[in-house]
Amino acid sequence: MNILLCGAGGQVGTELRRLTWPGGWPIVATDRPELDIGDRAAVDAAFARVRPGLVLNAAAYTAVDRAESEPEAAWAGNCQGPANLAAACRAAGIPLVHISTDYVFDGDKPGPYVEGDPVKPLGVYGRSKEAGEEAVRNELPEHVILRTAWLYSAHGHNFVKTMLRLAETHPSLRVVADQHGSPTSAADIAAAIAAIAMRIAAGSGRWGTYHFAGAGAVTWYGFAEAIFAAAAPWRGPPPEVTAITTADYPTPARRPANSVLDCRRIGADYGIASRPWQDALAEVVRELFEGSAPRP
Ligand SMILES: NC(=O)c1ccc[n+]([C@@H]2O[C@H](COP(=O)([O-])OP(=O)(O)OC[C@H]3O[C@@H](n4cnc5c(N)ncnc54)[C@H](OP(=O)(O)O)[C@@H]3O)[C@@H](O)[C@H]2O)c1
Repeated sequence: MNILLCGAGGQVGTELRRLTWPGGWPIVATDRPELDIGDRAAVDAAFARVRPGLVLNAAAYTAVDRAESEPEAAWAGNCQGPANLAAACRAAGIPLVHISTDYVFDGDKPGPYVEGDPVKPLGVYGRSKEAGEEAVRNELPEHVILRTAWLYSAHGHNFVKTMLRLAETHPSLRVVADQHGSPTSAADIAAAIAAIAMRIAAGSGRWGTYHFAGAGAVTWYGFAEAIFAAAAPWRGPPPEVTAITTADYPTPARRPANSVLDCRRIGADYGIASRPWQDALAEVVRELFEGSAPRP
């Protein structure tokens, strides 16, 4: 079964490429230069060339703040792209595993969000991702939409690497302490996607929308403190970290105050459980300082 992977150069795409897949499952890895998912003709040509049995979409426009001033690019990557993939999958009679975001929610719920909670994105990025989800649902019944949150890995741009970089030149940092979420290792969601792909291949896949994120919840401030604690064996004493409010740190895009995801459904349907976010963080920080870590 050929697997067509879109967005192979991103955080999740890179981890999906690093996984060991069953021998008979060649992964055809594409990133924007080989396949722009916003281009329907390019998607059709890739399907004709690869003849996939399954498509994994890790491609997205992920610049949350820049999306406010580049809405067309955000919609092309996050809505038109998944719509194109879903239409091509439907024509080919194959399923799609697509990744979405906690930022489809507005953050007003006091507890963790379940899959059926009403969506109400606060910005262009969240709206474009929500529209992408809807396009997939409307076009293709055989889909798995995986919403995740606060992704990081040793590869690419993310909060963990930004904190460690800033700490090299700043003895003190101010970090937002009134937004709550669940940091998620890209390697962990890649492993979850592989488990889903195996179930689909075995004919026992379940379709629909699922949440997958690191277990537990924290603020960006608490996450920063944990990053510096994890990095202490290599970096020594942490910088001073001061808790600030969202109002103290205005950004072009509004973000939800709470985007903690309830991940019980993927456990019930697929037997997939996430590990505590602190455990995954320790592994990624080690990889950043010591090189490649064993994959889950
Ligand atoms: N990052 C987070 O904190 C976060 C949180 C929640 C959910 N998610 C979701 O998780 C998924 C994976 O995120 P990630 O952090 O791995 O993303 P990422 O590191 O930003 O990688 C996205 C990849 O997709 C590519 N891409 C963008 N537009 C494309 C297009 N039109 N056609 C083909 N490729 C395109 C990008 O290429 P270029 O570099 O050329 O743009 C990049 O290689 C996305 O669906 C994202 O919305 C992310």
